[in-house]
Amino acid sequence: MDYSLIKYTHRIAIEIFSAGMTIALLGLIARHYIEPQRWVGIAKKLRYFLILPTGIIFIVVWILGIWMAVLAGWYEFIWFWLKIAILMAVSGVHGRVSKSYRLPDQASGSVLSDVVWLLAFVGMIAATVFLVLAKPF
Ligand code: HEM
Repeated sequence: MDYSLIKYTHRIAIEIFSAGMTIALLGLIARHYIEPQRWVGIAKKLRYFLILPTGIIFIVVWILGIWMAVLAGWYEFIWFWLKIAILMAVSGVHGRVSKSYRLPDQASGSVLSDVVWLLAFVGMIAATVFLVLAKPF
C-alpha cells in the first residue's frame, strides 16, 4: 500500500475517532441533565452505535500509525515517542468513556469534571497533531 494512501487513511480514521470521542464526552456532560433511568437506556444504545465503532477505528489508527513508523523509520525520532506517550493518555480517556457507557448507572463525575475530560481530550489531540505536523525534534 502506498505510503501516502496509508497516511490519508490514517487521517480519515483519526477524524472519525475524534468525532466519536467528542460526541461521547459531550454525552457524559449531557447525562447530568437527563433523568438517570432514561440515560441508562440512551447509554446502552450509544454503546453499540458510537463507543464500539469508535474503539474499532482507534485500533485502525494505531495499526496505520505503526505501519508508517516502520516504513519511514519514524521510531528514531523523539516527536514520535512523545506522540505515543500522549496517545497512551488518549487511550486512557477512551477506556474511561467506554466504562461510563458500559456501566452507565455506576458512572462517576460532575458536570465540571466531565467538561475537564472533554477539554483534556481536545488538548491531547491538538498536541498530537502539532507534534506530527511540526516534528520539532
Ligand atoms: C488520535 C490519534 C492520532 C492523531 C490525532 C494523529 C494525527 C496525525 C496526523 C494529522 C498525521 C498526518 C500528518 C501529515 O499529513 O503530514 C499523522 C501521521 C502520522 N501518524 Fe498519527 N495520529 C494519531 C495516532 C497515531 C498513532 C497511534 C501512531 C503510531 C503508533 C501514529 C503515527 C503516525 C505516523 C508515523 C505518521 C506519518 C508522519 C509523516 O509521514 O509525516 N499516529 N498522524
